[in-house]
Amino acid sequence: MNAGIERISFYTSRYALDLKTLAEARGVEWDKYRVGIGQEIMAVPPPDEDIVTMAASAAKPILDECGTEGINLVLFATESSIDQSKSAGLFVHGLLGLPARCRVVELKQACYSATLALRMAALAVNANPGSKALVLAADVARYEIGSAAEPTQGCGAVAMLVSTNPAILALDDASGLHAEDVMDFWRPNYRDEAVVEGKASTRVYLHTLQHAWQHYKEQTGRALTDFARCCYHSPFTNMAVKAHKTLLKADAVAGDEAGHLQRQVDESLRYNRIVGNTYTASLYICLASLLDHATEPLDGQPVSLFSYGSGCMGEFFSGRIASGYRDVLYTSRHRAQLADRTLLEVQQYEDIFNLTIPRDGWDYTFSQYRTGPFRLAGISAHKRRYERAD
Ligand code: HMG
Repeated sequence: MNAGIERISFYTSRYALDLKTLAEARGVEWDKYRVGIGQEIMAVPPPDEDIVTMAASAAKPILDECGTEGINLVLFATESSIDQSKSAGLFVHGLLGLPARCRVVELKQACYSATLALRMAALAVNANPGSKALVLAADVARYEIGSAAEPTQGCGAVAMLVSTNPAILALDDASGLHAEDVMDFWRPNYRDEAVVEGKASTRVYLHTLQHAWQHYKEQTGRALTDFARCCYHSPFTNMAVKAHKTLLKADAVAGDEAGHLQRQVDESLRYNRIVGNTYTASLYICLASLLDHATEPLDGQPVSLFSYGSGCMGEFFSGRIASGYRDVLYTSRHRAQLADRTLLEVQQYEDIFNLTIPRDGWDYTFSQYRTGPFRLAGISAHKRRYERAD
């Protein structure tokens, strides 16, 4: 039995920064961001939004439609953890009224862990047909102001309902894996911003991709051209372009490179280009973008996915898009939230970035910004207080 994704929904902040204004402020040519990196807008989280509010907001449309019955596993993937002990999943479990007879845990391995969550969820529902799992991935990508990585920030969350009724994507069994101990990007516990060896990290990504692809090919005998579409972890959209070019070259695929990119990759990058890096959620926002933007029907078509998490862990895997998938998408909701964002001035973005929340754990109340259905109201006695925003 093939398990997979029954529903997919994503959420991002109501605030964003047009990178054209950032380029002007930093004295950088706009084309470096727009063409060289492939990013146009980045999502900026207001102070009362975090991984919990974003993940709960991503999951709510799914639960409003499908209910909570049968969900006995919640896996929360993130590298923007808000607590060293308690899983962010339990806050979401409370906000969404999920069943008490449920396993809830948080997973970490840079941007990769949502993929492990998805694979584990698929195994769990296959072992217990009728059960369902909720996979959540949420992150805030933060680098230092003025750094080369600054335009590759962003924030967002994805929620996926996983079951043996994969109305969107049935997962194949094969997985190409590559793990290696390398310091390309990391965030020590005492830092709020990641440390990154930027250009080296792009090389490690491509090296990992090639190893994972080779492992996948050994299991399946498939060629890159067998896939109707290819989705890649996208810290910035040109990374996915570099990734696809690398595999086209490795497989000596004949024909026009630009044509292959346009057909197999472009549709998956539309959302990431205007949201930015969302770490664990990035690959799955690519999948949502592909499903929402595909100009020809993809029913029954094979797609590939490459998940990369610095440090590093890569997995190349695949699935088949279900017949009738367009009937169960949240396309108009996704588009409406992106169209209804408040664009910040650079100074406002910097003020939000530099806002330091007291770390003594005592009473703090957040000003109310625009958020989704949930917000972080404050902190009291070391406890984060969440509330409905509407
Ligand atoms: P940079 O210093 O801006 O790099 O850093 P650059 O000067 O080489 O410019 C970037 C590109 O813009 C180049 O193209 C330039 O030629 C081009 P490329 O050679 O790459 O094809 N360019 C222009 N194009 C058109 N018009 C112009 C122009 N000027 C220059 N006028 C870097 C870029 C991505 C390194 C930086 O933003 C960074 O450090 N980002 C963060 C790290 C990152 O995203 N790494 C990706 C791989 S690691 C990963 O994916 C994992 C991650 O998601 C974390 C996790 O796993 O948790 C990050």
